Amino acid sequence: MEQLEGRVAVVTGAASGIGLATAHRMAEAGMRLVLADIEAGSLDAAREAVAARGVPVVAVPTDVRDEAAVQHLADTAFGTFGAVHVLFNNAGVAATAATLRARAWEGSLADWDWTMSVNFTGVLHGVRAFVPRMLDGGDEGHVVNTASMAGLLTGANPYNVSKHAVVCLTEGLYKDFREMGAELSASVLCPGLINTRILEAERNRDTGAMTDVGSLRPDLQRFAAQFESALRGGYPPEVVADDVLDGIRTDRFYLFPAQSFIVEQVHDRMQAIIEGRNPTPR
Ligand code: NAI
Repeated sequence: MEQLEGRVAVVTGAASGIGLATAHRMAEAGMRLVLADIEAGSLDAAREAVAARGVPVVAVPTDVRDEAAVQHLADTAFGTFGAVHVLFNNAGVAATAATLRARAWEGSLADWDWTMSVNFTGVLHGVRAFVPRMLDGGDEGHVVNTASMAGLLTGANPYNVSKHAVVCLTEGLYKDFREMGAELSASVLCPGLINTRILEAERNRDTGAMTDVGSLRPDLQRFAAQFESALRGGYPPEVVADDVLDGIRTDRFYLFPAQSFIVEQVHDRMQAIIEGRNPTPR
């Protein structure tokens, strides 16, 4: 979809990080915007900042875990602008950094439920609420779902598993669009280490207590400290936003704004699968 000016985009997780940076880039490109986030206060601030770029912006506080709330988001978007051309299902969470290396039996089941319900079911809700109406509209359009490099690498933790589900869903969506001859396309966004507030995601958690996995295993505390500092040194979210816009304009499916050492790990994993080699321990 080369022409973005005047088109309508919906962004979830728009109040911070990658979602906010992408909303700014979309506004610079002249798109009309519907911003959604669970954090009403920072969403309002985001709406004001993005609208200052001179495009119409609507903010709809939305918990993507709630199907009815996402349907309401779609009603508002189509009701306000009459069409949606870009759907950016981006809201996501990670429990503490230590849980990224936790073993499947170490964290609480609540960690799994929370992470899966935002990262995967939230994306599914977006697809189900918007895509049928985008198809009915008959216009050119694009769906971008945020996974992660964690969706192409493996670990028995909720974050990796939820992001694999997003990669799978989105590849399927792309194939469905092609098979249908639809005017829609899709991309899966797989960032590497990006300097955002993702490790403070517990700020929006209202279910189940946070698991302090690091207190179970001291090596996980060390991992968490290293990971946090790697994330702080990661790319700024604007780098990801640029890739998202380019991916929409040039119809690229895999968007990998990621450090080369992470991309190499993906290559190694794919090569091992092709050769039938057993997985390499971290
Ligand atoms: P962030 O924490 O800065 O932004 C995430 C936004 O999602 C926040 O504004 C938060 O309020 C919102 N959110 C959380 N739960 C929600 C819910 N239930 N409903 C609606 N909104 C909700 O983090 P970041 O990094 O910008 O995250 C955006 C996406 O990028 C996530 O899907 C994340 O998993 C993914 N990602 C991030 C990477 C990184 O290194 N920061 C790497 C790979 C993927």
